[in-house]
This record gives sequence, C-alpha cells and structure tokens, in this order.
Amino acid sequence: MLFSLDLFVSLPEINRQMKLSPIRKILSVVNPETAHNIALRRLRAIGAVPAGKWFLGKRYAERSPMLEREVFGMKFPNPVGVAAGYDCNGEAIEELAAAGFGFVEIGTVTPRPQAGNPRPRLFRMPSAGAMLDRTGYPSKGLEYVMGRVRNRRRGIIVGCNIGKNTITPDHAATGDYLKVFRNMYQYVDYFSINVCCNTSSKVYVPTSKDAISELLAPLFEFRRGQSDYRPILIKISPDLSTEQLDQVVDALVELPLDGIVAVAGTLSRDGLTSAERAYADSKGAGAISGAPLTRRAIETVAYIHRRSGGFYPIIGSGGMMSPEDVRDMLAAGASLVQLNTGIIYHGIGLAGKICRWLTAAAKAEQSAAAGNKASGTAAESEQPSQKERS
Ligand SMILES: Cc1cc2nc3c(=O)[nH]c(=O)nc-3n(C[C@H](O)[C@H](O)[C@H](O)COP(=O)(O)O)c2cc1C
Repeated sequence: MLFSLDLFVSLPEINRQMKLSPIRKILSVVNPETAHNIALRRLRAIGAVPAGKWFLGKRYAERSPMLEREVFGMKFPNPVGVAAGYDCNGEAIEELAAAGFGFVEIGTVTPRPQAGNPRPRLFRMPSAGAMLDRTGYPSKGLEYVMGRVRNRRRGIIVGCNIGKNTITPDHAATGDYLKVFRNMYQYVDYFSINVCCNTSSKVYVPTSKDAISELLAPLFEFRRGQSDYRPILIKISPDLSTEQLDQVVDALVELPLDGIVAVAGTLSRDGLTSAERAYADSKGAGAISGAPLTRRAIETVAYIHRRSGGFYPIIGSGGMMSPEDVRDMLAAGASLVQLNTGIIYHGIGLAGKICRWLTAAAKAEQSAAAGNKASGTAAESEQPSQKERS
C-alpha cells in the first residue's frame, strides 16, 4: 500500500529511474491532478486504519530535538512544512504530520466553494522538475474546511491560507478574507493571506503598503478582540518589482503583520530550456513552480531578511526540492520552509529525507565545534600558564 502511495506521488521520478511495468505505464499517463487526488485519498486511507499513522511515521518521518524551531512563539517539531495547494481542504493534515512534516498550511480556503479553472489546468514538466499550474484555487469552501479542522487532533501546527472567491470583485475582497479569517480563527494556528497573482485565478493583489493595510485592517481589528493570538503572514509572488517588494517589507515592519511567506509560483519562464518554454507556452497561462524557482525564491527571502533587519519570520517556499535547497533557504534567513512541487516529484518521504539531512548536518557541526573546543583546550593547556611563565 505504501509503495503504491509513493508510486502515485512521484511518478515522473520513477519514470526516469526505472523501466515501467504495464501498470505503471498506465499510471504515468494519469493526469497529475487526478494522481494527486488519488495520492491524498490513499494517504487518508492509510491514516484511517489502526496504527496507520504510526506506520507513516515509522516509514517516513525523522524526529529529533535538533530539528525543533520556535517561531511565532510556537514550537515546530521541524522546519519543513507543506505549502498551500497540496492539502487545499484540510483532508490529510494528520497523515502529513505523521509522515514527518513539521506543519501543514491548508488552503487556499475561499468563503464559498469554487471549482477553479477548467481542466486540464495542471501540467508536469519533469525535465525541468517543475509544474505548470493554473488550477485557480479550487476550494470546497469555508464550511467544508471548518468541518475538517474542527475536530482535528491538537498538537499539529496548521496554517490556513485564505483568499477571496474568484467572482468577488476586488473592492469587496476584504469581506471574503475577513469571513474566512473569523470563522477559522479558533481552529488553526496561523494565517497566510494569499495576495499572489496567478493570471487566470483573479486573486486580489494589493501593490502598495496602503492597499495591504486597507485589506488587512479588519483582520487586525478582529484579532485585537480575541484572547488567543494568531500570527498573520502575507504570501507574496516572486514576480514583484523591487519597489513592490519594498512596499511589502514596509508593510511587514509598520503593520501588525507577523511574517511573510515567500514565494508562490512564478509567471516568468526563466530557468526553462527553449523546449520546456515551448511546452509551457503550448499549455497556456499558469504559474511555474519547482526547480526553476529555487534561486529566485532564495534571493527573495534573502532580500526581505536583509531589508527587514532579520527580525521577522519568513517561510521560504518555492523550489525546495532537496536538502541542499532547504539548507540554502534557511541560510538566506527563512525560519521555516514549505514544499509543494518537491512532494509531487519525490513523494511525501521528502520531508523525512530533508530532516535526516539537517539532523546529520547539525550533528556534524556540533562535533566539529566540540573538536575545535577540545583542540583549543589542548592547545591552551600546552601554553605555559602565567605562573609557569613567570
Ligand atoms: C498544484 C498547485 C496548487 C497550488 N495552490 C495554491 C493555493 O491554493 N494557494 C497558494 O497560496 N499557493 C498555491 N500554490 C503555490 C504553492 O503553495 C507554492 O508557493 C509554490 O508552488 C512554490 O513552491 P514549490 O516550488 O515547492 O511548489 C500551488 C502550487 C501548485 C503547484
């Protein structure tokens, strides 16, 4: 069962690595969105059997105190989370956490259910390690998601990415954001506000600090009246100009915002070969995620970190495909990271793989420091003491 779960989640990787059996040949032509839905359903099925979650943990997760991070006053078991768009409706939170993710950002949740764009709307680009996505934020809607998270097990950190319905006009966007925010407030641990443009999905994109302030003011106001504090982050596009990015950083510093999720998929076709670009063009509009985004995402995080004085938590998202990508993202100033395309290509075991790598790196660093200290002490003891010198 677990093997077939991997099969669904990381087909292109498997395609590359081995000759395909007839059944895999059939699976390799499964539309990526269908394959993703099957993978989530299978994950839930595993979680539903006795000891299923224990099994997921045993098979995939890495747990170590060395991985723990305190961010927003919350203790994350490790810094590797699930990005929005993977578990849009909060259907596999416990299974993803059991499989080793340190937190799960669900959503984008919209007030009313919406179907998203017509299919096909999600395309694999295996040679680029990328996805072309114009799903358009399909959501089963607030009521459904509340039902999913209402009785969830506590102890798993869940973020809720919120957005407006596509049909809601921009001037009424605040009402949509507020509705999801108020209703989900008691059920999740933090919020991420989706203001990333993704062509056909019609997300509201405020381009100035004042517009961000206007959009979020009612959310801040609502939070002021609550006894529990929920961090509010803003999730940004990698395609902002430097001036727009500066406005976001100003908003972070001057408004009661708690952090930034950087970045979402890009509309740019940089980092693709001409054949990949031609393929993407043939499929039409959409955002590119995955490997072509890695460098841009890390640079954006580094820029925000520098410009905001390093005081605000940043969740690094975009092209986190390997432990080394995560290492570089954390070094650039991210407090946490999120994966989406990485899971599609490498399976849900990627979080555990990254965490094992991070644990090994931390241990190596510790023993190198201990070695330095020991040799420093030895060198010191070889030095004649003041008394001996005199
Ligand atoms: C299929 C798909 C669906 C996505 N849906 C959402 C979404 O609903 N809300 C959102 O904020 N971001 C969404 N994203 C963007 C991801 O959360 C992430 O920020 C982006 O893909 C970059 O990370 P990655 O390279 O690890 O995929 C989606 C991405 C993909 C590939």
